[in-house]
Amino acid sequence: MKKILLSRWTKVLLFLVCLIPLMQLGWRAWKQDLTANPVEYITHDTGDWTIRFLLITLIITPLRMLLKEPQLVRFRRMLGLFAFFYGFLHLTTWVVVDKFFDWNEMGKDIVKRPFITIGMAAFTMMIPLAVTSTAGWVRRLGYRRWQALHRLIYFSALAGVIHYYWLVKSDVRLPLMYAAIWVVLMGYRLATRIGKGGARNPVPATSR
Ligand code: HEM
Repeated sequence: MKKILLSRWTKVLLFLVCLIPLMQLGWRAWKQDLTANPVEYITHDTGDWTIRFLLITLIITPLRMLLKEPQLVRFRRMLGLFAFFYGFLHLTTWVVVDKFFDWNEMGKDIVKRPFITIGMAAFTMMIPLAVTSTAGWVRRLGYRRWQALHRLIYFSALAGVIHYYWLVKSDVRLPLMYAAIWVVLMGYRLATRIGKGGARNPVPATSR
């Protein structure tokens, strides 16, 4: 198991797997199979993958602790960057193909539609995380400060879940399921921190 987790090919494979949603979207676009409302389809698909990748990134640390496999941390940065990547595509779809760069209209939406406001907040929180995801930034900030900053991912994921909950009109089962996953993951992190008397995670996320 350790050998597999340490292999660079596992990372390459995971990278390719993370690209599958994009390839699927590209394939459907190529086949002109994006339903009668392609903008809506792309917005929903990229939104779904953003929240999924955020939660998958958050699962890594508890999984690492439960399985006692510290090497799992090698995949966390890539997964987090894919969450950012799909979030960026999601936002870009809204800015470019939904709103046609109409900044005035977008400004109004951000102020008047709470689900857009919170979605924007969720994405904004991901920006410093993506920027500081390199080993160089861990050194520059110092591991403690870097780790404190990276706890923002919990708030970004929470804002993403609320965004989803607020935008669905009737069937709230999926956003509630994501909310439950968030609560379990957050609960686990808090419980382990309390258990360790507030001791911090000793493994830098960018370790290879
Ligand atoms: C971390 C950031 C974000 C996450 C996790 C996220 C997630 C989601 C999810 C899961 C959906 C629903 C997909 C579905 O129904 O299958 C969605 C829809 C949507 N999101 Fe986001 N989103 C984020 C940020 C944003 C931002 C920044 C904007 C625009 C400012 C935005 C605009 C929209 C719109 C317009 C929809 C479709 C709403 C509708 O169907 O009426 N999202 N998003």
